[in-house]
Amino acid sequence: MTRTVRVAIIGCGGIANGKHMPSLKKLKHVEMVAFCDIELDKAEKAAAEYGTEDAKVYQDYQELLKDASIEAVHVCTPNDAHAAITIAALESDKHVMCEKPMAKTTEEAQQMVEAAKRTGKKLTIGYNNRFRQDSQYLHQVCEQGDLGEIYFAKAHAIRRRAVPTWGVFLDEEKQGGGPLIDIGTHALDLTLWMMDNYKPKVVMGSSYHKLGKKKDAANAWGPWDPEKFTVEDSAFGFITMENGATIILESSWALNSLDVDEAKCSLSGTEGGADMKGGLRLNGERFGKLHETNVELGAGGVAFYDGSVETDADLEARLWIDNIIHDTEPVVKPEQALVVTQILEAIYESAKTGKAVYL
Ligand SMILES: NC(=O)c1ccc[n+]([C@@H]2O[C@H](COP(=O)([O-])OP(=O)(O)OC[C@H]3O[C@@H](n4cnc5c(N)ncnc54)[C@H](O)[C@@H]3O)[C@@H](O)[C@H]2O)c1
Repeated sequence: MTRTVRVAIIGCGGIANGKHMPSLKKLKHVEMVAFCDIELDKAEKAAAEYGTEDAKVYQDYQELLKDASIEAVHVCTPNDAHAAITIAALESDKHVMCEKPMAKTTEEAQQMVEAAKRTGKKLTIGYNNRFRQDSQYLHQVCEQGDLGEIYFAKAHAIRRRAVPTWGVFLDEEKQGGGPLIDIGTHALDLTLWMMDNYKPKVVMGSSYHKLGKKKDAANAWGPWDPEKFTVEDSAFGFITMENGATIILESSWALNSLDVDEAKCSLSGTEGGADMKGGLRLNGERFGKLHETNVELGAGGVAFYDGSVETDADLEARLWIDNIIHDTEPVVKPEQALVVTQILEAIYESAKTGKAVYL
């Protein structure tokens, strides 16, 4: 008989309600037994909607971590609290799923990796885009070597006008940055995972505070306050890997461009290429001609079923709980997320100094 995993949620805001709690609720072997938020009413609401009958609520995560019956903690707070809460949870003998980005700085991310090693507990980061159908398919293509050696890639995270105006996303101190650390992180994680290349060598970057200064701007989530917009609105990176491969990373919450794509990558290898633009496409050369294949991820015309087995969030949660129950390694390894953090930090540093950063 499979045992039940007792889970706690720390930070009961947007992503906890939009991803973690609904997906965990669908799993038979999970009980959500504790909820924490500095705004207690959010923890109470979450407990009432998703918790067990005797679920507890907390305002202070340190108090929650004293409960020895809790086996796993999901850290869903703003970025500046990821490292401290994750390390404290690992040291309280809990497995941790921490939301992306792993941390604000490489130093913090390194401390998280060390804490996981020291305690022997599992740590994973919420890079849910790896669990999309197109990502899962493309990863198998790459793993099998169908693209050959991938030596050029683009990581796409470009929105025309979709600046997150809730919470603390515009606050440099709390988040550590804007679109680069918020959505560039997903695109870069996806790209490195497809390339299976975690050895960056040199990073150049640039960042901009242009459209963020505008008043009454058109925006998916309503106009922002330019006074509070302390993070960049766009950032771009040029990354050279130890093996000579190149990655171009583009990220923006607000850019005058029709070429928009988020949490996607384009890959070019010696045997073929792939991109996620308008669906998953593979390309290459055969019998002296160039070809392009569109991968059908749907049900192929069935009226009552679109072919999707699980959402990316549901698959992420199910595999994570399986990792805990069967003592297996998570798909998203903390050492991989650490490299993503290092590269993002190097882009910010290079943007500030105008110099290349050698890692
Ligand atoms: N995987 C994704 O695609 C995705 C999408 C959105 C957000 N996120 C990440 O999730 C995190 C939270 O984002 P959000 O949109 O849910 O923000 P949010 O502001 O809606 O929610 C954060 C919650 O954490 C609470 N909080 C803050 N500090 C706390 C502390 N010390 N202890 C307990 N609770 C605390 C806040 O009161 C708030 O309710 C961020 O790191 C963000 O990058 C990930």
